[in-house]
Parts: sequence; C-alpha cells; structure tokens
Amino acid sequence: MIQILDGYDLSSRNTFRMKVKCAKFIEYDSLPDLQSIDFGALPGPVKHIGAGSNLLWTGTFPGTVLHSAVRYMNVLPDSDPLWRVAAEGDVLVAVGSGTVFDDFCAWAAGQGLWGVENLSHIPGEAGASAVQNVGAYGVEASQVIRRVNCFEPATGKTVAFAPEECGYAYRESIFKHPPVKDRFIVTEVVFALSRTAGPKLDYGRVREELGDAEVTPQAVREAVTRIRMTKLPEVGETGSAGSFFKNPVVAPEVFASVCAAFGKSAGEVPHYVTPDGVKIPAAWLIEQCGLKGRGKGGAEVYSRQPLVIVNRSGNALPGDIVELKNEVIDSVEKRCGVVLSPEVEII
Ligand code: EPU
Repeated sequence: MIQILDGYDLSSRNTFRMKVKCAKFIEYDSLPDLQSIDFGALPGPVKHIGAGSNLLWTGTFPGTVLHSAVRYMNVLPDSDPLWRVAAEGDVLVAVGSGTVFDDFCAWAAGQGLWGVENLSHIPGEAGASAVQNVGAYGVEASQVIRRVNCFEPATGKTVAFAPEECGYAYRESIFKHPPVKDRFIVTEVVFALSRTAGPKLDYGRVREELGDAEVTPQAVREAVTRIRMTKLPEVGETGSAGSFFKNPVVAPEVFASVCAAFGKSAGEVPHYVTPDGVKIPAAWLIEQCGLKGRGKGGAEVYSRQPLVIVNRSGNALPGDIVELKNEVIDSVEKRCGVVLSPEVEII
C-alpha cells in the first residue's frame, strides 16, 4: 500500500520534533509499491528518511519525503548463496528497511542469537542502520551486515551490495554521500547473527553493569539498555537526534596539542588509538570547554551526555539548534584546534 500526502507535517517524523513541512510525503510498505512510484513526476528534491532520528530539518522542505514501512525479519532461504560463505553457527536474517532496528535486536536476543545485543535501544530503522553504520558499545552494524539490497529509481533495478562495497568506516558508508546517496534506496539488509556465544563486554561499563548475571544476548541487551537510559535522552520524552557530533579522530601530533591546550598529560585525556588515528570523545572536549548545559533558545547541550543537543523546551527552532551547534564547534576549535563535525544530517 502507498500513502501519498501533500503539505505533510514532519513533526512526528523527526526525533528532534522540529515543526516543519514537506511538499509531498510518500510511505510504501512493499518493494513493488516502491517500484510503482513515478519518480520523474515527484516534486524534488527527493529525500528518503528512516525514523528521522539522525537528521535536523532546518525549514520547509520543497520536495518529496519518502519513508519505508517495509517491515519483516526472515531467516534467509537455504538456497541463498550467502549461506555458502557463512561461518559455522551463523543465522542469516533478511530485515525489511522500515523495521524498527531495536525490534530486530529484541528478536535476536529473544532467540538467543548473538551479534546485535550491544546495538540495543538505538533509535532508528534497519535501512538507516546500514546507511549510518550505527554503532555502540564496541560494535558497529557493518560487523554483522552481509548484504545491502537497494532499489535504483533511475533504472527500476534492484542492486545488491556486499559489505566490502559499502565503504564502511566509523559512522560512514557510501550511502551517505553522492553519487550513491541520491541514486539508491536501501530496501533490505541481511545480517549475520550467531548461535555461537560472542559477547563483547569490554566497552565502558557493560561488564560492570552485567554483574553476576549469566552472559546471554538478552542479559547483554538489558545491560546496554540500562546504560543508555542513564546517559541518553529518551526520544519519546525529549527531542534529540542522539549524538550530534562524531568523535574526532586525529593525528598523534594533534592529540599531543589537544593535551597541551587543556594542560593535561596524555593519560588524563580519554582517547582510543585506532588504525586511523587517535579518537577523542567529543563529549569530553565539549565538557572541558564548559558547554555542558549551555542553552540557545529552546535548545540545550545535554548535561548528562554533552555530545547530544536536545530540544529542551519542546519548542526549539531549527535555528536554535544550528546556532548552538556552531557555538560548540567554534568553542572547541578555539580552545584546542579540533574541528568537530556533525553526525546528524542537516537538511
Ligand atoms: N564523556 C565526558 N563527559 C560526559 C560524557 C562522556 O567527558 O559527560 C567522555 C568520557 O571520557 C567517556 C567518553 O566521553 O568515557 C565516551 O562516552 P560514551 O561511552 O558515552 O560514548 P560516546 O563516545 O560519547 C559513542 C556514540 C554513541 C554510543 C556510545 C556508546 C558517537 C558519535 N556516539 O558516544 O552513539 O551510544 O558511544 O558506544 O560515536 C549516537 O550515535 O547517537 C550515539 C548515542
């Protein structure tokens, strides 16, 4: 079924709760319905969204907003070639793009399957998880993605991407950038879960939060959910888009100058050495700049996790959030030379 609405209010379609409209809104719940859309006749630009949990609308959108309500989780049929390259114990599950990602995590944990328990409680949908390469508590979606199925409106064809073709990196994929971004719509993601125990407990407080509980996917899911709930605003209560900024990854000499700028030794600055450079928590940089709780209009730097900007009043305007974001970027840059980049897509 297709739903087509003109002059649609996007308030309920973005977790920042911005009150903006789009010229046309289309929701479809099957691939044939998506294929039946006459893209040439739509007001442009065309923007496909997920749950709207990682974007900021800055005003009326003159084009068409598309949303997938394609929701399913199916174990792949035995005939699928992916089984031939699957590891022992793997369970390959095809998930429709509009499936709530946490519903999939809950299902996996309920089946006793490992792989996505650390990604529990992340807002958003399965299609977007493959675009954003969502990550939390030491796991990134790309580690469990085995195939991303897409539809190409210009040709009417479906195209399957292997994970090696998706350009995955920290919060990065080819689906976030032109020309791929504007060319393909993710319709289904195939994930590899596993019957073989593979708990990842070394990030932050996960092990501590588990305590003496038996280590099962469900127990890890519950521990991660409890940690998230202490740090992050609940999307249903306070408008936000989760982390507003990415954690910067800098060269070792830049890390040394950051330490010097704050008058700290390397041991006093939280950081993780990665193959691409030194990752510094943006939350720490923002806190050191005294910006926790900083407000602008109805927007605020969240005091429990300053990586997040919240719609504190419920009536924040896009401009409040943009100004606050700019103030954070400027302050951190002036103080230590690191330029933070937004993780949230600003439209
Ligand atoms: N920190 C502070 N002050 C604070 C909070 C944190 O200094 O008030 C520092 C601490 O040093 C802490 C470090 O920041 O050890 C890391 O904090 P946290 O573990 O909360 O994670 P994060 O790096 O701030 C990232 C993701 C989150 C994800 C968590 C857990 C990004 C942009 N964000 O945040 O993802 O939940 O790790 O894995 O990578 C999201 O993308 O929306 C999101 C919430």
